[in-house]
Amino acid sequence: MNPQDVQGWVSDAAQAFAQADNLDSLKVARLAHVGDKAPISLASRALGSLSPDEKASAGKIIGEAKAEIGRLLADATARLEAERDARVLIEEVVDITLPVQRAHRGGLHPITIIKNEVSDFFIEQGFSVEEGPELESGWLNFDALNIPADHPARTMQDTFYIEPIESGMVLRTQTSPVQIRTMLSQQPPIYVISPGRTFRADELDATHSPVFHQVEGLVVDKGITMAHLKGTLDNFARHMFGDDVTTRLRPSFFPFTEPSAEVDIFFNGRWIEWGGCGMVNPKVLATCGIDTSIFSGFAFGMGLERTLMVRHGITDMHDIVEGDLRFTRQFGVGL
Ligand code: DAH
Repeated sequence: MNPQDVQGWVSDAAQAFAQADNLDSLKVARLAHVGDKAPISLASRALGSLSPDEKASAGKIIGEAKAEIGRLLADATARLEAERDARVLIEEVVDITLPVQRAHRGGLHPITIIKNEVSDFFIEQGFSVEEGPELESGWLNFDALNIPADHPARTMQDTFYIEPIESGMVLRTQTSPVQIRTMLSQQPPIYVISPGRTFRADELDATHSPVFHQVEGLVVDKGITMAHLKGTLDNFARHMFGDDVTTRLRPSFFPFTEPSAEVDIFFNGRWIEWGGCGMVNPKVLATCGIDTSIFSGFAFGMGLERTLMVRHGITDMHDIVEGDLRFTRQFGVGL
């Protein structure tokens, strides 16, 4: 082993490290000059075969050379790391004053928001949510609910009939057929609500829409009385309109409830009609095969558009159906 050779390896390494202009090329240079196959490494390994004297002097030369190469490598690494850090600071700078392209995430329609709100409220109390089809049989939409053939709701004016007329199918005019579907498929105790889309042949104006939404409630159990109905509606009204709201039941008529009532709320200084309710007519329970000597029930139904309009002082139905984002955004995204 010639000391000049060793010096040559050191200066080769020094030159290679100096020429490296980034950390990747330094890595290549490092493998070549200090890696397992680098001349200095091979020489270091060959020391073992030398005599003790030779080993002492050669070991010293090689040790010093390795230390020198190590220093050179450390210097080059420090230099290139500093360069990289400085470059990253410039290249990856973020100008927080630049205008951003704002993408609208989208959100739920206010009717969907209020529907979810109603569902969450009843689910918390152990109700389940049932859905029925929008295209419904006339029997479920009318007959089973004790709405006889000569009832005004069955005239062509109110109901969208589906061709062929003999099919007996209609666009449901109310969510009440879901009561029938539920009672035909489940035994009491029944605690369900059913929010959904309903249809009536009305012109769109400030207070009507041919497509609107209702939420139906149905409870059938042992010993259910009108007091349970009133308590349920009170809690529901407070949840929707605030703790100050008062409800009152006003005698009314629905073929599927007996007795029947309108539920009014006292909100913002006046009485407002909110929906219909009553004790499920025993005839309807019997149609569904429920033993009326054991079970009784109550039901209620209200419009979701109406609920939203009353709560937020919306005076024109057009705002709810037209989908103008300036209107819907006021209700938040609801996600
Ligand atoms: N289905 C009725 C309507 O559309 C609303 C209603 C009234 C539903 C009384 C009920 C009820 O469940 O008990 O006008």
